[in-house]
Amino acid sequence: MTSPVRLALLGCGTVGSDVVRLLHEQSADLAARIGAPLEIAGIAVRRLGRDRGDLPVDPALFTTDPLGLVKRDDVDVVVEVVGGIEPARTWLVEALRAGKSVVTANKALLAEDGATLHDAAAEGGADLYYEASVAGAIPLLRPLRESLHGDRINRVTGIVNGTTNFILSAMDVTGAGFAEALEEATELGYAEADPTADVEGFDAAAKAAILASLAFHTRVTAADVHREGITEVTAADVASAKAMGCTIKLLCIAARGADAAGRETVSVRVHPAMIPLTHPLAGVGDAFNAVFVEAEAAGQLMFYGRGAGGAPTASAVLGDVVAVARNRLAGVHAASESAYADLPVRPMGEALTRYHVSLDVADRPGVLEAVAGVFARHEVSIATVRQGPGGGGSDAELVIVTHVAPDAALAATVRELRGLDIVRSVTSVLRVEGGA
Ligand code: NDP
Ligand code: HSE
Repeated sequence: MTSPVRLALLGCGTVGSDVVRLLHEQSADLAARIGAPLEIAGIAVRRLGRDRGDLPVDPALFTTDPLGLVKRDDVDVVVEVVGGIEPARTWLVEALRAGKSVVTANKALLAEDGATLHDAAAEGGADLYYEASVAGAIPLLRPLRESLHGDRINRVTGIVNGTTNFILSAMDVTGAGFAEALEEATELGYAEADPTADVEGFDAAAKAAILASLAFHTRVTAADVHREGITEVTAADVASAKAMGCTIKLLCIAARGADAAGRETVSVRVHPAMIPLTHPLAGVGDAFNAVFVEAEAAGQLMFYGRGAGGAPTASAVLGDVVAVARNRLAGVHAASESAYADLPVRPMGEALTRYHVSLDVADRPGVLEAVAGVFARHEVSIATVRQGPGGGGSDAELVIVTHVAPDAALAATVRELRGLDIVRSVTSVLRVEGGA
């Protein structure tokens, strides 16, 4: 057996503590798989005095100096499970430039400034692996960046945030309230340190950027992603979806397209959408994630599994640790970032989608015609209209589902509807995906 591969573990919270446990429990198997034992050189945390339960690790390994730990000569691989942009970027750039491979779960940093990390990895001749950053335990990034590299990916559609899927599933199945479901997701270790990142869609947008970058060989950042969270999804929306045989999911959609001049583009968006109960993503409940990949030759592929939580995420981290440790022993590193296609990102207004709109309207002659006229003026074709009793005695509820149209035209239609005096209120506006 050769000398150990020494790890600097940055962070020992939900994910980091399970990394420590798995390293301990599987040390013999991991050593056999790698051809050398793994050893923890140090663990950087924020609070030395924090109670870490019965973690199987020598307390003397803890430090509050992550940069000092990264710089140590006896560190071969840096595992970062802290999160955030800075100081994590400084630590990782330092490691990579010094030729130390990095394994990270930090999607926020990869989506904000992945280019800096990839450049540092190329400069230092080191590996940068980040399987845990998208969809927790699900092997997804390696298939995209290796197995599917001989194919052409056209579209990636998925549920990539466990917390919001947990909340939406609870609202749909048990009728739980938003706040109550979020609290439970946080207790279970699914939510980010600031759960706003989950419920406002920032976390899913970061993952969408990472997926789009790999799928389309193009640098896509979080700023390129159209993002809407789930904070405005109401119990009425959930009921409306149910009435249509649908459910609401926070979707990430990254697709190839073309602009008016016929040049190839990509569009990347994250927003809640109604999908029919027959859609394969409709049955993805709890904190599970699922991602559909549509490729030219491979056809449709679906990846499914636990998208959040300490142990599932630690599994993905450990898989990367084994890969980079093996590379290190073999004296090689993985191919660097593939961003040659450099496709322009299309604005959301040009994305083709469908809307489901519920209106509380005055119940009198000519109202339907006036409402239909607004859709027609914006060249939005109506697919179905359903009328039922409205909120007030003299009101009616109109539920309209459109055909596919540019998002900008659909949004302008809703804006104009809100200004009509016959429209008492626009009670629900949701995009519809997957043929409801
Ligand atoms: P936690 O908040 O549970 O843990 C963060 C850890 O980082 C803690 O150990 C904390 O120290 C330490 N830390 C924070 N700031 C510093 C600092 N300045 N210097 C040194 N250490 C610091 O986060 P998670 O484990 O949930 O998440 C970690 C990363 O993994 C994030 O990037 C997250 O997005 C990602 N991720 C998380 C998943 C999940 O399900 N939780 C799933 C996939 C990815 P202390 O213990 O002293 O507080
Ligand atoms: N907060 C994230 C989620 C963790 O809920 O999906 C997994 O990346």
